[in-house]
Amino acid sequence: MNRRGSDVATGTAPGPDLAGVIHTAAGDSVAQPSHGEGMGPDREVVWLSGAAARLGGQTIWSDVSLTVRPGQFVAILGPNGVGKSTLLKAILGLVPITAGQARVLGAKPKVRNAAIGYLPQRRAFDPGVRIRGVDIIRLGWDGDRWGVPLPTLPWAHRSRAARQRVREVIALVGAQSYAHRPVGQCSGGEQQRLLIAQALVRRPELLLLDEPLDSLDVTSQASVSALIQSVCRCEGVAVMLVAHDINPILPYLDQVIFLAGHGAVMGPPEQIITAETLTMLYGTPIDVLRDHAGRLVVVGHQDLPFQQLPRPRHEP
Ligand SMILES: Nc1ncnc2c1ncn2[C@@H]1O[C@H](COP(=O)(O)OP(=O)(O)OP(=O)(O)O)[C@@H](O)[C@H]1O
Ligand SMILES: [Mg+2]
Repeated sequence: MNRRGSDVATGTAPGPDLAGVIHTAAGDSVAQPSHGEGMGPDREVVWLSGAAARLGGQTIWSDVSLTVRPGQFVAILGPNGVGKSTLLKAILGLVPITAGQARVLGAKPKVRNAAIGYLPQRRAFDPGVRIRGVDIIRLGWDGDRWGVPLPTLPWAHRSRAARQRVREVIALVGAQSYAHRPVGQCSGGEQQRLLIAQALVRRPELLLLDEPLDSLDVTSQASVSALIQSVCRCEGVAVMLVAHDINPILPYLDQVIFLAGHGAVMGPPEQIITAETLTMLYGTPIDVLRDHAGRLVVVGHQDLPFQQLPRPRHEP
């Protein structure tokens, strides 16, 4: 597996009160991002330090510290309702950070949203939608998603540049054969690729994907995951992807952020998806097993599948 280097510095072993710091799963690390050698909150793609988010008068998560660097492929995992989508929205400045610090592309959240591609959770096109995939992608270029106009090139130049870039991203996601069909007639996996192309069209520095593998079959999950990794490598884009099952993305990932009621950890997957770390995060015994194909199976006391682990109680 290709790793871009851990963001987690080694330190003391994690104790039971983990909220607030990033720990390695191996239990040997407490994480504060290292900012030596030219790195720092203004040089990293995303940097949160002791951050908290509140919605509806309730703390969704708190004391979250993490660092995402250019070109990294990072998965965000955790049970339903723990705040994964909220984390993406906080990075976008759509949900306020109520404690700690946050820098996104060297600025406060929201300031550089024009350089961020975002796929919200659960979007699908009705079969009757007639707009073509290529037009969906073009909407991303024209700035409709974030309301920020593109640089002030003359219209004809802008139009030519747009057509060329739209062609490029269609090729990048392998959508040549269906990009000119009505999007409602494309399969779920094809629609996902078109939406990823839309998020990519303005050459973002950061791509936030909220469950892009949702409802795809196993083959499509693998091919979309490989596509996302190639986007990281070829375009140097940092990707933060929310997922419920780590297995389809495991071969492609650099880092994992795991959110659960007792804290948040970040590190390479083999350090994070362990019985010790997940037991610490959930505050209840969790086992991590590997099947003969290398797939990870996470089991709680009641042998719940990975995505059905109980939602932990939030700290008050
Ligand atoms: N606007 C809001 N006001 C109040 N509470 C909210 C709001 N939006 C979300 N929440 C709550 O915040 C918590 C975190 O929601 P979020 O959507 O971030 O979870 P998630 O980890 O993405 O879950 P899932 O895996 O189901 O998508 C949930 O309990 C949710 O009900
Ligand atoms: Mg969500």
